[in-house]
Amino acid sequence: MRASAKVKKAYHLALLARQRAHCPYSKFKVGAALQIAGKAEAIPGCNVENASFGATMCAERSAIFAAISKYGKIAPEFLVIVTGEAKATVPCGLCLQVLAEFCPDEMPIFLGNEKGPIEERKLVDFLPRAFRVFKVKAK
Ligand code: THU
Repeated sequence: MRASAKVKKAYHLALLARQRAHCPYSKFKVGAALQIAGKAEAIPGCNVENASFGATMCAERSAIFAAISKYGKIAPEFLVIVTGEAKATVPCGLCLQVLAEFCPDEMPIFLGNEKGPIEERKLVDFLPRAFRVFKVKAK
C-alpha cells in the first residue's frame, strides 16, 4: 500500500523498535510507533515479555505509555504496528481498550511487516463499541 512520508518515517521507527523486542518465550517480535499530532518524531514501542507471562507488555501499549510519560496529555494522530507475519496482525483486545482511552475512533492504524505497510484501518474497525463510560478530555 502507499503511505505518506510521515507514515514511512514512523514505520521505520516501529521497525527499529521491533528489533529491540524482548520476547524469548513467544519469539514473536512486535514493533509499534505512535505519532502524536504536532510532534516531529513518533514514539516507538516494542513487546517486553516476562518469565511471569502475565507481566508481559505489548508493543502498542509500550508506545502509548511512553508517549504519555513523555508528553503528559497526548493527541494521537496515527499508530503503526509491525510484526513478522505475512498477513497484517490485529492489536490484542487489551491494547485496543487502552488505545480507546486515548485515541479517537477514527485514528488510522497501519499494519505491516518487515516489507512495509499492508493495510490501513481505523481504531473503530477493531473496537466498534469501546467501553468509554468516563469522559476523559483530550488535549
Ligand atoms: N503482542 C504485542 O506486542 N501486541 C499485540 O497486539 C499482540 C501481542 C506481543 C505480546 C507477546 O510478547 C507476543 O506478542 C506474543 O503474544
